[in-house]
Amino acid sequence: MVCRLLEGKKGLIFGALNDLSIAWKVAERAVDEGALVVLSNTPMALRMGETHKLAEKLNTIVIPADATSVDDINELLSKTMDYFGGKIDFILHSIGMSPNVRKSKHYSDLDYGYLNKTLDVSAISFHKVIQSARKMDAINEWGSILGLSYVAAQRTFYGYNDMADAKALLESIGRSFGYIYGREKNVRINTISQSPTPTTAGQGVKGFDNLLDFSERMSPLGNATADECADYCLTMFSDYTRKVTMQNLFHDGGFSSMGMSLQAMQQYNKSFEYDKEHPFD
Ligand SMILES: NC(=O)c1ccc[n+]([C@@H]2O[C@H](COP(=O)([O-])OP(=O)(O)OC[C@H]3O[C@@H](n4cnc5c(N)ncnc54)[C@H](O)[C@@H]3O)[C@@H](O)[C@H]2O)c1
Repeated sequence: MVCRLLEGKKGLIFGALNDLSIAWKVAERAVDEGALVVLSNTPMALRMGETHKLAEKLNTIVIPADATSVDDINELLSKTMDYFGGKIDFILHSIGMSPNVRKSKHYSDLDYGYLNKTLDVSAISFHKVIQSARKMDAINEWGSILGLSYVAAQRTFYGYNDMADAKALLESIGRSFGYIYGREKNVRINTISQSPTPTTAGQGVKGFDNLLDFSERMSPLGNATADECADYCLTMFSDYTRKVTMQNLFHDGGFSSMGMSLQAMQQYNKSFEYDKEHPFD
């Protein structure tokens, strides 16, 4: 379904690595809906991934930037506005990475250097992008900024590790800056809390396949796919959601409101075994 929902709008999209990426789907759908987009990713991701292929398909440009570097972000915003010939209407921050997850460090044995990196890449970069955009007055009035989160910000999921802390910070930054940017320029800032999704980042989480299966069964509507997430992002960039700000919006088929389903209870009763060796897992 194409409704030209974003006709005339211009957006900056971080985080399209390959065709599994949520940002990839958002970029494709945004262009379908009439938007012009600029893509950005790290120089390393641009070498290893397929972002340039997407840019070719969408007839646009890719501007390299490490979202933890304020200098890179400033240059990116400036080049993006040059390309558009004006300000930006929407930004998607679709960025996440934890060296602790990558190196299989347990949450009770975190490497704090890695933790700093996790927080910087996955959460503080959201603040950096917004702060730079505001200082450069890079976003049009009634613009929309989105970050992507996960329910582990509110509840504990074994294996999600320090990304849970990063997501809690990400959501908080959305609220805190949403107040400032909303009052000044009517710019709205929200986070979408997405179902587990089989992407490169998602599949790096310990026990991801089990998590995907569990939440699929537990969610009344089933897991939300990357394509469905893209559709939700588009509505948040459109003029139909101009008064939605400072929210963490669950896009998870109802998972976050579930406690226990009948099927899960039956399964639990069948297989319940107390693991004395790992009582805290
Ligand atoms: N996949 C899931 O299960 C899931 C669920 C909820 C939320 N999310 C969130 O969605 C977002 C997108 O992830 P995805 O699942 O599409 O995976 P992905 O691996 O396709 O995307 C992650 C992106 O982050 C980029 N990135 C990493 N470090 C960066 C840096 N320093 N500067 C700029 N970009 C950098 C990577 O290059 C990559 O393009 C992330 O915030 C992720 O935490 C994912």
